Amino acid sequence: AEDGYRAWLRYAPVASSGNYSSLPSSIVLLNATRNGPVSTAGRELQQGIRGILGKRVDINETATGSPAIIVGTAEAYKLVYGDFEEEGELEEDGYYLSTEGRDIVIVGQNQRGALYGAFDFLRRIGQGNFAPTSHVSNPHAPIRWSNEWDNLDGTIERGYAGTSLFFQDGHRATNLFRLTDYARLLASVGINGIVINNVNANASLLSPENIQGLGSIANTFRPYGVRLGISLNFASPQIIGGLNTFDPLDPKVISWWSNITDALYASVPDLAGYLVKANSEGQPGPLTYNRTLADGANLFAKAVKPHGGIVMFRAFVYDHHISPDNWKNDRANAAVDFFKPLDGKFDDNVVVQIKYGPIDFQVREPPSPLFSTLRKTNVAIELQITQEYLGHQDHLVYLGPLWKEILEYDLRADDRPSKVKDIVSSERFGRPLGGFAGVVNVGSENNWLGSHLAMSNLYAYGMLAWNPSLEPQDILQDWIRLTFSSDPKVIDVITEMSMKSWPVYENYTGNLGIQTLTDILYTHYGPNPASQDNNGWGQWTRANKHTIGMDRTVKNGTGNAGQYPPQIASQFENIETTPDNLLLWFHHVPYTQVLKSGKTVIQHFYDAHYEGAAVAQTFVKLWESLKGKVDKERYEEVLFKQVYQAGHALVWRDSINQFYYNLSEIPDQAKRVGNH
Ligand code: GCU
Repeated sequence: AEDGYRAWLRYAPVASSGNYSSLPSSIVLLNATRNGPVSTAGRELQQGIRGILGKRVDINETATGSPAIIVGTAEAYKLVYGDFEEEGELEEDGYYLSTEGRDIVIVGQNQRGALYGAFDFLRRIGQGNFAPTSHVSNPHAPIRWSNEWDNLDGTIERGYAGTSLFFQDGHRATNLFRLTDYARLLASVGINGIVINNVNANASLLSPENIQGLGSIANTFRPYGVRLGISLNFASPQIIGGLNTFDPLDPKVISWWSNITDALYASVPDLAGYLVKANSEGQPGPLTYNRTLADGANLFAKAVKPHGGIVMFRAFVYDHHISPDNWKNDRANAAVDFFKPLDGKFDDNVVVQIKYGPIDFQVREPPSPLFSTLRKTNVAIELQITQEYLGHQDHLVYLGPLWKEILEYDLRADDRPSKVKDIVSSERFGRPLGGFAGVVNVGSENNWLGSHLAMSNLYAYGMLAWNPSLEPQDILQDWIRLTFSSDPKVIDVITEMSMKSWPVYENYTGNLGIQTLTDILYTHYGPNPASQDNNGWGQWTRANKHTIGMDRTVKNGTGNAGQYPPQIASQFENIETTPDNLLLWFHHVPYTQVLKSGKTVIQHFYDAHYEGAAVAQTFVKLWESLKGKVDKERYEEVLFKQVYQAGHALVWRDSINQFYYNLSEIPDQAKRVGNH
């Protein structure tokens, strides 16, 4: 139980401690405030070094003269040790770590940075890496947040790991002890903000009692440098404020929000800000009053501005009652349609939070065209750690490679290099803010996400948000060593399973950009290709007897391809230049359309489903080869998941193949599908 709970912060002993026999035996904390991140760094180093090296180190508040692990902000360091060469290179939350001299120096641009430096050091020695190093590390973007979709009643929307750690029965949870451990996990991978309630927000979060409760929750996160944020219900002034309107331009509404904001900051002085889902999936918003989404966002921006807060405003705005009868209708167009006219109209402390693809966390999507559309607006990318469409943590899907592909995608805005990662960092369009939001939906289960192996996704999210240039496999292997073992066999096996897992899941769920063919009406779980079409949700496949795929071309379809910058638009406009894995995202073609691989679309479906399901079977054997190399509890729990996945992959394979065989009546060349 312990190891699963501690995840990558196990601080398990490493075999050879090399030249670290001479590790200083004291930690010096410079200018540490009580319960601030520098103090936390001290405790964490003490605990980590004890676990990893079996060595006791003391914590001092002043320099002792003997070799030490010196931890503090650059400012504090300078006061004691004088000028410091790397200081100029440090950016907000960044740190300098040096293990080359007599002292080990861990200096942050701010307190949070010092804590991140301590975790960097612990990640190294925790993997038995004692190579001397001196380096500066700065985060890629200032916003690196987790989003949690917890409801006040203790349930979690799209959460697959038990009940809420934050709320129960309409109030904050009475027992907050696990939040400290969650804060540790988040801080250890550089996450500096957490929005703790569902984007489909309950207005009663703003009751006086709950505002007080938020204060207690913020107190548990503050020592780890993780700032609290909350999701707002746009209609709160009416629902709990007693006003007869929630019009964002109404003076009564404006002053109601400003008072509530003041009350929130009185309880949580360092509140990071608000997250707002408006006019989406039935949520209230400014459009009710013919006000723009920017009017809505700026209402909150102005309220938090004096307190230094920001507003994450979601771009996930679309009409979920569009008619499938109109060939030109397309939910994928919604974000650009809604937000393009508003570019430049958002206040400077608003960040438009954009899901990575135009639809909704599907197994394969192109990047959202909104990233290259907004030039005078701050943006952040929203990723999903919780595996909503990706098997609810019952299926192994390591998401590092998916995120990496999106982040490295070059959208060629103005025919210039425009990688998504450089847009969200704020660099490409010279914005003041930008970053990352990851929907985690952590729960009460002992291993946090309901699956030990799924924790690689939380780890990878933090690492990529800090540095998207890292390779997903390297991130994964650090995680394996820290979480399980440095045994080469363990590393090989978990690497093989994890690195194959996304393509495998894509193969047996939905190929060629057709989306995850799951039940989209309610559970988002298990195969249900029929549920995609003929409803207002707009996750259509347009499958009929002869043809399949969404025609998103400009010449004949929804025009979505034309929302991308010219080079990308023309690539997606033409079948010949559209990559196979997005063919059915952009084109409506016969099942007999021949792919670049030489196979027809339908044969690719059949083959991919067999291939994917077959590889899922091998994960069981692979995992079994680790028996005795992983503690019994985690071994058994992972095995249970893998056996389940292997079985469910067969269900997926047969349901999807049979569905398209019934529809198209085109036989499988290998004679596996159909009535033989
Ligand atoms: C998906 C998800 C919803 C969620 C929504 C959102 O549609 O199924 O549960 O509320 O995304 O991100 O707002």
